Amino acid sequence: MSTEIDATAQFQALVADPRHRRDDSTAMVEQYYALVGDVYRESWGPSQHMACYGPGQSREEATEAHEKDLADRAGITADSYVLDLCSGVGGPACTIAAHTGARVTGVDLVADRVREAQDNARKRGLEGRVSFRVADATALPFDDSVFTAAYSFEALCHVPDKHRAHREVARVLRSGGVWTGYDWMRAAGPQADEVAETICRTHGLAALATLDELRQGLAAAGFTDIHVSDGRDLGDWAPNWDLLEKLTAELPPRDQLPPVLRMMTDGARAACAGARSGDFFIGYWHARRTQEEP
Ligand SMILES: C[S@@+](CC[C@H](N)C(=O)[O-])C[C@H]1O[C@@H](n2cnc3c(N)ncnc32)[C@H](O)[C@@H]1O
Repeated sequence: MSTEIDATAQFQALVADPRHRRDDSTAMVEQYYALVGDVYRESWGPSQHMACYGPGQSREEATEAHEKDLADRAGITADSYVLDLCSGVGGPACTIAAHTGARVTGVDLVADRVREAQDNARKRGLEGRVSFRVADATALPFDDSVFTAAYSFEALCHVPDKHRAHREVARVLRSGGVWTGYDWMRAAGPQADEVAETICRTHGLAALATLDELRQGLAAAGFTDIHVSDGRDLGDWAPNWDLLEKLTAELPPRDQLPPVLRMMTDGARAACAGARSGDFFIGYWHARRTQEEP
């Protein structure tokens, strides 16, 4: 317990200052997932993102349908070679490879999560088509123009220089390739500033972008046919917040929780309140690499 208290305190000291979240983001992300990885695994399984729900869907059904829907919108097929940026423990890459027959390579900053992703792919018999490696989204270890499509689920919020990540994706995509995904995002304005700050501190996020900033980042990286939107334009996200609220309500009182769970509960409550008020939302983008050089 004292180790957990020390590790949580160390993490919270780091994230308290937005400059550290920007300048020490690798340490921040590594510390965050060392703290929350077990809870994430037990609560969410191998796909650790929210989902757009269809009527009557369970979380598992909605998550799988949401991942397949992204693959279909991106035009991913058995001939595709796909990059999963910030692939976590591999759930989305496995679902998309199984659904489309594509080859998928995931990159993630955290070595333990890459190992877990490899195990998950092996368990699903997908190790021939799905692979993972440790890499930073802003410095990809690939030659230019190798992938036919790229996607990311809810991870760019961890990355301080999102424009650089978009440029890296543009570099490794072939002309015509689609870059698409979802991210934790914020509305503009002072109320949203406060909401975003609490969400970033409790989730180890560098910063939440607005839809305008996302559009600018994609355009600056040379993408065309850019579409960005609030995910709520695509369907129903409320069940994510309903579920989080239910899970946090079932826990013991806050002062009886171990420090990690207390931080996660604070984070979940901030995310739910921000989502209900509209200051925080899951954003969506879809863009195409059409130029020879980004
Ligand atoms: C919320 S998890 C989502 C994982 C996965 N996309 C999914 O939906 O299951 C965010 C992931 O981004 C990874 N990450 C954060 N910053 C990164 C960076 N700069 N480069 C690569 N991965 C990063 C984290 O390690 C974590 O696995």
